Amino acid sequence: MTRSEELEYRLNLLVQFGAIISKETNLTKLLEVIAGQVEKILSSQRCSIFIYDHKTNELWSRIARGLNNTEIRVPVGKGIVGWVADTGQSLNIEDAYKSDKFNPEIDRITKFKTKNVLAVPLKNVTGRIIGVFEVINKNEGNFNSEDEGILNLISSLAAGAIENAQLYESLYQAQLETIYRLAVTAEYRDQHDTAVHLRHISEYSALIARAIGLDEKKIDDIKYASPLHDIGKVAISDSILLKPAKLTDEEFEEMKKHTLYGAKILSNAKSHLLQIACRIAQSHHEKYDGNGYPYKLKGEQIPIEAKIVSVADVFDALCMTRVYKPSWEPSRAREYILSERGKSFDPLVVDAFDSVYDKILELQKKSDPRSTIIPGIRKELYRDDSNPH
Ligand code: C2E
Ligand code: SIN
Ligand code: SIN
Ligand code: FE
Repeated sequence: MTRSEELEYRLNLLVQFGAIISKETNLTKLLEVIAGQVEKILSSQRCSIFIYDHKTNELWSRIARGLNNTEIRVPVGKGIVGWVADTGQSLNIEDAYKSDKFNPEIDRITKFKTKNVLAVPLKNVTGRIIGVFEVINKNEGNFNSEDEGILNLISSLAAGAIENAQLYESLYQAQLETIYRLAVTAEYRDQHDTAVHLRHISEYSALIARAIGLDEKKIDDIKYASPLHDIGKVAISDSILLKPAKLTDEEFEEMKKHTLYGAKILSNAKSHLLQIACRIAQSHHEKYDGNGYPYKLKGEQIPIEAKIVSVADVFDALCMTRVYKPSWEPSRAREYILSERGKSFDPLVVDAFDSVYDKILELQKKSDPRSTIIPGIRKELYRDDSNPH
């Protein structure tokens, strides 16, 4: 490449850079995208982005590629990266192993041989240091002052996007936590293994959604909204919900309303996740053939997220002990799900369920599904397994 071709190449990449990073709100993905771009723009072997953690006064990095998602942590002050965070100055080192600032520990972890290093501070608009940008091993020669200028420029562009993603992530995290606590509250009364059931619903639904081929965003939505499917049970009285026997027709009619109560609780939500939770709560007992409740919706009228949670919910309910029923063997629960293909459940969802059945079993084995803390359930009180209602 001639000098002017090289400049043009870098300029083009820089122009694209802002557009590429502004689209990503997921912090991990954003950092990956930035690192990949920087490696190209600066023709270097590796770019690592270290983020400052003010709670521990450390810098962490997840961008060690080839090493799946290992998190590296270094104290501020230690090594090249720690020095840059501490002083706010850039460093350009031609032979890392001859530098007294170099911390060879990271090479030992990444099995990478650092030759030359260029590191610049990542500063936000107010000038506060939020991390360190580091590029390692330029493809030809050493890093020069032009590289340093470009890295500083990239760093100032990236800092805003990184701070946004951090903020978004902490808000999202807070939202997930609230949703989860709400879900625990709803399941608390009728299930001793609340946490296990909620985790199962969430994990099975995500596996099925992925097998269907939904995109990652949608999979996450279903994963995090599904624990709220039975939130409406908070409005069902103890005498019905906790009855250790088969419900009368009248009681079951009241029980069915948990779908409507759930939809009501979650209605008109501003949050995208709660809107999905609303659809799931409302429609997770609809059946593909139109014989479900509350609205007897059919086939494509039922939202896909509800159809997925329906299979995950019934499979897990069958495998778990309830006040009104003993647990089933997973193989029997699977047979039941398959036998309801095209009846209770969408064939597409049943096929997806069956294709990930082994993974579902693995997740299930991590906890003992048959454990119960409810003593002395009398077998004659269990309702007929083959005929729910
Ligand atoms: P759940 O216990 O979470 O069960 C969810 C769904 O799993 C049930 O929806 C049903 O489709 C399936 N399921 C659970 N146990 C069995 C079973 O033994 N056999 C079969 N074939 N399917 C089963 P469903 O029937 O609409 O019930 C919704 C909720 O109503 C249940 O949620 C539970 O909280 C309550 N419920 C249902 N039947 C009874 C009962 O006989 N006694 C009591 N106390 N509650 C019941
Ligand atoms: C250091 O910060 O001293 C090590 C740089 C690296 O290899 O990532
Ligand atoms: C919503 O999605 O927020 C409303 C759905 C409903 O009320 O059924
Ligand atoms: Fe339900």
